[in-house]
Amino acid sequence: TSPFAPRHLLSIADLAPAELTTLVRNADAHKQSIKSTGEVPHSLRQSLAGRTVAMTFSKRSTRTRVSTEGAIAALGASPMFLGRDDIQLGVNESLYDTSLVLSSMTSAIVARVGPHSDVADLAKHSSVPVINALSDLYHPMQIIADLLTLTESHPSTSTTSLGLEGLKVAWIGDANNVLFDLAIGCVKLGIDISVATPKGYEIPQAMRDVIGHAAQTSPRAGKLVETTVPEEAAQHADILVTDTWVSMGQEEESAKRLKAFEGFQITSELAKRAGAKDKWEFMHCLPRHPEEVSDEVFYGPRSVVFREAENRLWSALSVLEAFVVNKGKIQ
Ligand code: CP
Ligand code: NVA
Repeated sequence: TSPFAPRHLLSIADLAPAELTTLVRNADAHKQSIKSTGEVPHSLRQSLAGRTVAMTFSKRSTRTRVSTEGAIAALGASPMFLGRDDIQLGVNESLYDTSLVLSSMTSAIVARVGPHSDVADLAKHSSVPVINALSDLYHPMQIIADLLTLTESHPSTSTTSLGLEGLKVAWIGDANNVLFDLAIGCVKLGIDISVATPKGYEIPQAMRDVIGHAAQTSPRAGKLVETTVPEEAAQHADILVTDTWVSMGQEEESAKRLKAFEGFQITSELAKRAGAKDKWEFMHCLPRHPEEVSDEVFYGPRSVVFREAENRLWSALSVLEAFVVNKGKIQ
């Protein structure tokens, strides 16, 4: 790579623990400041004035699209949303050509793709930063918002860390893109994560290796524990988390998956039976389907899902500031 090669954000694995901490802290600072004053500070608003950011999305999105477009606007730039039916990509033109063309005219590319290799290829050939807005392997912008949500529920006075060390996160459901980046983020920050999946839906070995490697980058690594028993994962957990059992692109497997995941719905009874911590909270990246979590939990007092969703905006602002305004220098 040339010294001028841009820095990309394709996964939480791309971040040192201290950088991840800073991105979450900056997201929090922007949230506090903008919500208390009701305004985006002038310096921030001018930072990408007159520029454009391409958003190539090959799949649907509510939160990622709205938060990223909002953050781009807050930085003074214009988002250019390019849905799958809008541009030539994938139908009439290769990723390679698209990457060269988009990066010659914009300041960054935010891409939502199917296979992770698509966003990795875009990044390889792009002369501007590429931000992964969800691939089949990772969802880094979501995890920064999730960590911000956790710090709000578990405030700390530490000046050197987010103070989340020793918490236990229980993921009950599918081993998917959101889990992979969450597990990487947790182990980097000293958060223990227990994962319960049905047999046959475990974390692939290659991904276990990536998570193990992420743990090695941390002075205080969290532990990853896997099981096929939801109650085992939920025992002593501070946070119960799940996501859809059928990710975008897996619709044909829907019936098979719904059957395989029977018994994995997060309910108050499950948390009680398993012995989750008294003050356990529930998180979900959304969109949510009723099979993976009961209405009682999802809309109940322990659920922080709508604060988590709002935090996508503050996280997007922090990510764009670091990778586009500050060219990958996370400070
Ligand atoms: N959580 C999330 O990424 O939602 P969208 O698919 O609506 O962007
Ligand atoms: N795992 C889900 C996340 C959506 C934000 C999917 O890939 O469809």
